Amino acid sequence: MKYPKEYLDEIKTRLKVSTVVSKTVKLKKRGKEFVGLSPFKTEKTPSFTVNDEKEFYHCFSTSEHGNIFDFVMKTQNLRFGEAVKILSNLAGMQPYTFSKQDEERENKWKLYKSICSNFSEFYKNELFKNENSIKAKNYLKARGLTGVDVKKFNLGFVTENLDYYEILKKDFDEEIIKDTGLFYFDEKKKKYISRFRNRIIFPINNISGNVIGFGGRIVEDNKNLAKYINSPETPFFKKGSNLYNLDKARKLSNKLEDVYLVEGYMDVIGLSKNGIENTVANLGTALTSKQIQILNQFYNHIIICFDGDQSGYKAALRAAENIIGEIKPDKKISFLLLEDNLDPDNYVNKYGKEKFLEISNQKIIPIHKFIFEHYMTQTTESPSSRAIFEKKLREIASNIKDSFVKKYTLEYFLEKVSELTPNINSKFNKNYKKFAKSLAKTKSYYNETKSLKSFEIKEFSFLYVLFAKPKLISENFHLIDNVKLYSEENKQLFAEILNQSENLLNLDLQKLNVDKNLINRVMNYASVKHIISKNLNDDEKILEIFIEIIQDLKNYELEQRISELESKFSEDMNETTFNEIKELKKQQKMN
Ligand code: CTP
Ligand code: MN
Repeated sequence: MKYPKEYLDEIKTRLKVSTVVSKTVKLKKRGKEFVGLSPFKTEKTPSFTVNDEKEFYHCFSTSEHGNIFDFVMKTQNLRFGEAVKILSNLAGMQPYTFSKQDEERENKWKLYKSICSNFSEFYKNELFKNENSIKAKNYLKARGLTGVDVKKFNLGFVTENLDYYEILKKDFDEEIIKDTGLFYFDEKKKKYISRFRNRIIFPINNISGNVIGFGGRIVEDNKNLAKYINSPETPFFKKGSNLYNLDKARKLSNKLEDVYLVEGYMDVIGLSKNGIENTVANLGTALTSKQIQILNQFYNHIIICFDGDQSGYKAALRAAENIIGEIKPDKKISFLLLEDNLDPDNYVNKYGKEKFLEISNQKIIPIHKFIFEHYMTQTTESPSSRAIFEKKLREIASNIKDSFVKKYTLEYFLEKVSELTPNINSKFNKNYKKFAKSLAKTKSYYNETKSLKSFEIKEFSFLYVLFAKPKLISENFHLIDNVKLYSEENKQLFAEILNQSENLLNLDLQKLNVDKNLINRVMNYASVKHIISKNLNDDEKILEIFIEIIQDLKNYELEQRISELESKFSEDMNETTFNEIKELKKQQKMN
C-alpha cells in the first residue's frame, strides 16, 4: 500500500527532524543546526547533525543520512509503513485509511494473522503439554534442542485426533480459514484436514514478526512422506518475498556486517543455538532477486551457505545465476561451501561457532568467482566446449543490472578466459606492435582520416562510385534521387557533378568546377575504393555496394533527425513530436 505524498508531507511539516531525533539522541543547538552523539556508532565527540530547515540529519562518522522516516526506520529497525504509523501518531494525525479494497485486504490480513498465530500458539502448547507429543519432544531433544530453543523459535507439534478446523470455525469464516492454507479438503472424508498433522511445525514470520506460514517436519523417517512440507502460497504468504528468521536477523544489522543465508529451518536454529543469529533461510523454493533486495536493505554482505552435498551445491549454483543480476557496487554476495556433506547445522554442532566463523572468513568465494570456477570445471579443451563456456559467461554477465558491476564482471571473466588462449594472446601482442610501427609511418594520413567524420567517409564512397561508374549510375538514376549529403563541400561537389555531367550522362572530372583537392580527397579516403576497383566489371556487385552506401547515408539522416526530435521532445513533451520519433525509429528498424 502506497501512502499519498500529501499525507507524508503533512507529517513532515508537523514534525521537525530535531523533534523526532531528540526522542532518542540528546541534541545541542549549534548555529542553524543541532549536534549530538551518533546513534549509529559509539563515539565521544559529536559527529551527528540535524538540520530542520533542510529536513534531514547527517552523521559524519558513518555517512548515514536521511529524513525523519529514514531515522525511525534505521534506529528502530522498522519498515517504512511502520515508521509512518509511529510518526503520524506522534504528529497527532489519524492513521491513514486506504481505499475500500485496501481496507478489505487489511481486514482480511488481520483475521489471517490472527488464525496463524492462534494455530502456532495452540500447537506450541500441544508440544509441551499433550502426552501424544512425546515422540516429537524426544526427537527435538535428540537433535540437541532445549526448551529455550524451542520457545525461541515457537516450534510446535500438530497432534492428531483434534479437529482444530472446527475450533477455528467458531470464530472465523470458512473462506479466510481456507486462505491460510493450513487445511486441505479431503474428498474421501469430505472434510478439512490439517496439512501439518503429525509434524513438528516451524512458524514462518513476515519481516515484522507476524506468523504468515509454516514449515513442517516429520518426526519419524517415512519414505512415503515428504520430510518437509511448507504452507502453500497464500494471499499473505509469498515464498519468494519472505525469508525464515528475517524478523529476528534484521535486528542485528546495526551491529553485524554480514548475514548468512542457509537452506533449512534447522540450519537457522542450529546456528542460532551456537551463537550465530544473523541467519535466514529461504523457504524450500529457489532463491529470488526479491529476497536479495530485501536482505540488502539491512546487510551489505550476504553469505550463502547451503548444504555441503551435491544438491546443496546445485542449489547454490542456481541461486548464484538467479541473483547475480542484483549485485551492486556497495553490496557483496559470497558463497561458503561446506565439505563432507555437512550442512550448516551439522557443521556448527560438530565444530562450534569459532571454527564456523573462521571458515567463513577464509573460505568464502565471491559470486563471480564461484560462477567462473564452476563453469571452468565443466569445460573441456575442445573448441566447441570452450566456445560454449565463453558464451555462457558473457550471457551471465550481461544480466547484471548495474552497468559498472556488469563491466568489471565481464572483464574478470574475459581476463580468465584469455588465460586459456595464450597463443592468441601473444600473437595479438606481436601484431599490435607491428601495427603501431606502421602507424607511425602513415601518421599524416592517419591524422587526416582521424579528423574526418564517419558520415564524411561514407559520402566519399558515394561520390567515388559516381566517379568510377557514371554510366551505370545514370542508368539507375532513381537510386540517387533522394540522397542527401551533409558535409558542405561534398554537397557542392555532388551538385556540380549532376550539373556538369547532365545527370551523369557524360561526366568529365577535369571539367568540374571545384577545388581539385576535393576530388583528391574522395579518391584517397573513400573506403570502398579497393573493392570497387576490384569489381569494376561486375555491375551487379557494384550496384549492390552502392545501394548499401545509400542505405547507410539514409540511416545517418534518420539518426540526425531522431536526435534533433528527441532533444525537442525533452523540452516540449509534445505528443506529435513523440509520434514522429516513433515513426522514424520504425523506419530505422526496417532499413
Ligand atoms: N525442504 C522442503 N521439502 C523437502 C525437503 C526440504 O521444502 N522435501 C526445504 C525445507 O525448507 C528444509 C530445507 O529445504 O528446511 C532443507 O532441507 P534439508 O537439507 O533436507 O533439511 P535439513 O534442514 O537438513 O533438515 P533435517 O536436518 O531436519 O533433516
Ligand atoms: Mn540440510
